[in-house]
Amino acid sequence: MKVAELTKTLPYGEAPEAAKPAQDWIAEHDGKFGLYINGKWRDPSPKEYFDSINPSNNKKLARIAQGSKKDVDDAVKAARKAFGTWSKTPGHIRARYLYAIARQIQKHSRLFAVVETMDNGKPIRETRDIDIPLVARHFYHHAGWAQLMDTEMPNHQPLGVIGQVIPWNFPLLMLSWKIAPALAMGNTVVLKPAELTSLSALLFAEICDSVGLPAGVVNIVTGDGRTGAAIVEHNDVDKIAFTGSTEVGRIIRRATAGTGKKLSLELGGKSPFIVFDDADLDSAVEGIVDAIWFNQGQVCCAGSRLLVQEGVADKMYKKLRNRMEKMRVGDPLDKAVDIGAIVDTNQLKQIQDKVAKGVAEGATVMQPSWSVPTTGCFFPPTVLTNVGPSSSVVQEEIFGPVLAAMTFRTPEEAVKLANNTRYGLAATIWSEDINLALDIATQIKAGTVWINSTNLLDAAAGFGGYRESGFGREGGKEGLFEYVKRKPSTHKLEPSPQRGGRQDGGVTKAAKKASATKSAALSLVPSIDRTAKLFIAGKQARPDGGLSTNIYGPNKNLIGEAGKGNRKDIRNAVEAARAAANGWQKATGHNKAQILYFLAENLAARSEEFARRITLQTGASPAAATAEVEASVAQFFTAAAWADKYDGAIHNTPIRNVTLAMPEPIGVMAVLLPDDQPLLAFATLAGTALAMGNALVVVPSPRHPLSVTDLYQVLETSDVPHGTVNIVTGERDELAKTLAEHDDVDSIWYGGPKEGHAAVQKASAANMKRTWVLPAAGALPETGEVLREATQVKNVWVPYGA
Ligand code: NAI
Repeated sequence: MKVAELTKTLPYGEAPEAAKPAQDWIAEHDGKFGLYINGKWRDPSPKEYFDSINPSNNKKLARIAQGSKKDVDDAVKAARKAFGTWSKTPGHIRARYLYAIARQIQKHSRLFAVVETMDNGKPIRETRDIDIPLVARHFYHHAGWAQLMDTEMPNHQPLGVIGQVIPWNFPLLMLSWKIAPALAMGNTVVLKPAELTSLSALLFAEICDSVGLPAGVVNIVTGDGRTGAAIVEHNDVDKIAFTGSTEVGRIIRRATAGTGKKLSLELGGKSPFIVFDDADLDSAVEGIVDAIWFNQGQVCCAGSRLLVQEGVADKMYKKLRNRMEKMRVGDPLDKAVDIGAIVDTNQLKQIQDKVAKGVAEGATVMQPSWSVPTTGCFFPPTVLTNVGPSSSVVQEEIFGPVLAAMTFRTPEEAVKLANNTRYGLAATIWSEDINLALDIATQIKAGTVWINSTNLLDAAAGFGGYRESGFGREGGKEGLFEYVKRKPSTHKLEPSPQRGGRQDGGVTKAAKKASATKSAALSLVPSIDRTAKLFIAGKQARPDGGLSTNIYGPNKNLIGEAGKGNRKDIRNAVEAARAAANGWQKATGHNKAQILYFLAENLAARSEEFARRITLQTGASPAAATAEVEASVAQFFTAAAWADKYDGAIHNTPIRNVTLAMPEPIGVMAVLLPDDQPLLAFATLAGTALAMGNALVVVPSPRHPLSVTDLYQVLETSDVPHGTVNIVTGERDELAKTLAEHDDVDSIWYGGPKEGHAAVQKASAANMKRTWVLPAAGALPETGEVLREATQVKNVWVPYGA
């Protein structure tokens, strides 16, 4: 018999990895694990424990501590204390700790892999070859960032104590994504693993101990959602980093609203996997195997929606059916198994229910002829055809090995279908035409796009979502900014006279000066100006309600009127911005720069008038007002300068691959301006957001709106495309509420009082829009920060090699 024939007849033989090292490790702990707080192991208080189950056989693995509020409080206290020293520990020393952790993980990689497989149910091939090596890679990579922080990020400092809550699908990998950058940037952490998969985090705590990491730098508090909530709600935590369901993400967004806690959310997805008719179909099939059957499909960025070009659909489905037939589902410790166990019985039930619902809606099920083991939580690889864009299985995350397949005819249709989701985590494009693939990549609203590859992840590349997939990035230099804040600026802005007056309750020097100049200023302009309308879709529009508000100067003198915009005006403005957004995004950086320079020029030509208006509104001295106009002109120049210079990077990922990190506009942004320096605030915030390709709805400060309404003519004469800048004056918090709740607004910046911060952030949870809150008064943020807030980074992976 020939070898080729032999290979066809060879029976399948099991190749199990030994469970013993993991069982021994659990036995060393008498099958019960406490909490790791302040470098010590201890019981939870009260002494409540729950079981961790191996989903491949439903047998109990260990008892896990249920951390209470008190335990979380102790952990936060330990982390706060440790922060004092850790944040001052030189980058090089922090790098050595991270390096030591990476080395220890490598040394114990097999134990980690087996523990992870037994606890989660994922195949040993994946934990051994993907999860654990990537974990080590994260610590190595971030050891480098700790080393380089002082030189590469000299204006930044750590945030403080970071609360981190992670899911069960990549237990140790998610831990490394959270802990490595946090520690590298000088923060300390309290991390809660998912209750279904705590073991690898506890083994990791032992590693921290073994390398002598100072007590309190890493605290591991196990428990369920209640423990997570206690971390989120703790008032001495500076930032929450969360990965998990969009539902819990929303709860966390609301719970942290207005607290000043920094937040990053990595949530669900329903990522498209697009196959064009010129694709190498066999490699696309292998891509699908990795996209939806890797980790039993329990992957936030899983390619769970197949979009295949009509002409090759039947061929593709046939190939998929054949491939599926040859897959092996079973004991995850078996090295020859492709698909392991679903994480637990609840998740399995959810998958079964969602597929049943899809079938009830008319889907056709394609599954292999064989059946899966009946003991343990197993589900076969599944493809659902005969589904439409609104089918539940196309819209909802199933988080299982289930692919919903649809066809498309043209690239435009592919983009439409791909973007027809509330999520925006990832996308895959399969085509031999690189021009087409890159063109589609730029049009898809997702944080990561893989071309002719899928589910590639690396510490050097940022990962994170658009839209309801959350915000913030993990990995890459872009991910570091989630764990730092700017050092206090030494550059002090002169407080506006009006503010000075309010602060000490008396007549300050500045206020006296203002009143001295007031009469001079007033003599130059009429005391009551015409009522400013709103500016929507390039036209001045009367407010829908037909109302206007009096605008007063610093001495309560009436200086003008401004339109009082309402919900309807906001809706019109958002509609205009959405209509303009695509065109403006596509305009070249050069083109955007020309328009912004022109705007600056037209403003400069009217500087005196604008300076007088500032004085009239705020009481600033003529010199200060002139300086503000000059600074605004300069700021428009800065925005114009960045329009074609704020470019990305090519990340150094360890495969033959170009990973393009491209900053993209966020889309439609609401910008509610703070009170101080009304013109400069517009130039700094709206000017920069505009330069980055966003379409805007701007709400001027209700106290000083006239510097912005005066810009209507400047905007009209500067070739700013209609609809890219819309301006609605009125009551700030009323308009903010409508904007924050609006589903077609992608991001909201709010300069205003603290209560407003909370309201905006709470309301934003509806579509998980990004928020950025600023004080009503005080120094404006520096341009670098504004640029980062005005963009989101898309990582496009393009492998190469003949
Ligand atoms: P989940 O979002 O409930 O759990 C994630 C983490 O959040 C866990 O550590 C959990 O204990 C914690 N948590 C739960 N409630 C919390 C609260 N109120 N405050 C703070 N922390 C809280 O996810 P779950 O229930 O494990 O899975 C449900 C669905 O979520 C899955 O079917 C899947 O669709 C999705 N999911 C998405 C993930 C992703 O990576 N995007 C990961 C895991 C689940």
